[in-house]
Amino acid sequence: MKVINKINDIRKYVDSLRKRGKTIGLVPTLGALHEGHLSLVRRAREDNDAVVVSIFVNPIQFGPAEDLKKYPRPFRQDRKLCEKEGVDIIFHPSVSRMYPGKDSTGVNVEGLTDKLCGRSRPGHFRGVCTVVSKLFNIVKPHAAYFGQKDYQQFLVIRKMTDDLNFHVKLRLCPIVREKDGLALSSRNKRLSIKERQEALCLNRALKEARRLIKVGKVSGAGLIISRMKRMINSQPGARIDYINICNPETLEDVKIIKGKALAALAVFIGKTRLIDNDVIS
Ligand code: PAJ
Repeated sequence: MKVINKINDIRKYVDSLRKRGKTIGLVPTLGALHEGHLSLVRRAREDNDAVVVSIFVNPIQFGPAEDLKKYPRPFRQDRKLCEKEGVDIIFHPSVSRMYPGKDSTGVNVEGLTDKLCGRSRPGHFRGVCTVVSKLFNIVKPHAAYFGQKDYQQFLVIRKMTDDLNFHVKLRLCPIVREKDGLALSSRNKRLSIKERQEALCLNRALKEARRLIKVGKVSGAGLIISRMKRMINSQPGARIDYINICNPETLEDVKIIKGKALAALAVFIGKTRLIDNDVIS
């Protein structure tokens, strides 16, 4: 496995792979890898001749009040995990290599980014789209792998890919959870024992939404959302950022559930903001 820091070096490497007719799968990450990330790596490994994992804590997708400085950077551990999964290249650039000077060019997807996480994290998706488009241009992957955990991020990147004609297939991989249902996230480590227990309310609320929709008795989104709110508010350490039931393509709120619906929520458990979602049909 190679660790490459310089943009020109990785360009040379992937160009030689492409010349030899090898397919390249890219898994973009912020590092602090866990089983969620590794599930994407395994899928990329199955589908491609070569796998590139990018590890880059992208400063421009963090808001001023967010956790950029505190974001974990356990590179040696990440490197071991990648090695074990048969990754070919870790692309691990510095901030100054990715953003020399002031970043004045950004990629902005409109519409989809006004909703859900976009409302409470202004500028976040611009940061994500900018870095992912740079990674697409640098690595030129045949396929790129994203998790359903960040469902809105996937939709936004898909829109960007279509609109800007990036020649890359996008793959959405299922959410990996702990046994008790908590979606894996590098932020889970910040939870105290009590908060870790309270954090289960996100998945429980989604399960309740699924149950209500599946039994077919409730089709009004409003009623389902109020049940979910009640479950979450019963946890003293929980504060709801949003709970929405919406169209899984447009992210527009739905009132009556017909066909597929996305139930998505963001909740602060103490100071830690967690997200989760479920696509229910
Ligand atoms: P990061 O939070 O490190 O996540 C990298 C990828 O792993 C994302 O596609 C995310 O959806 C996926 N992922 C995280 N937790 C998961 C879980 N429990 N199950 C399945 N997949 C999971 O998302 C980012 O980084 C950044 O915004 C990035 C796309 C790298 C741009 O900087």
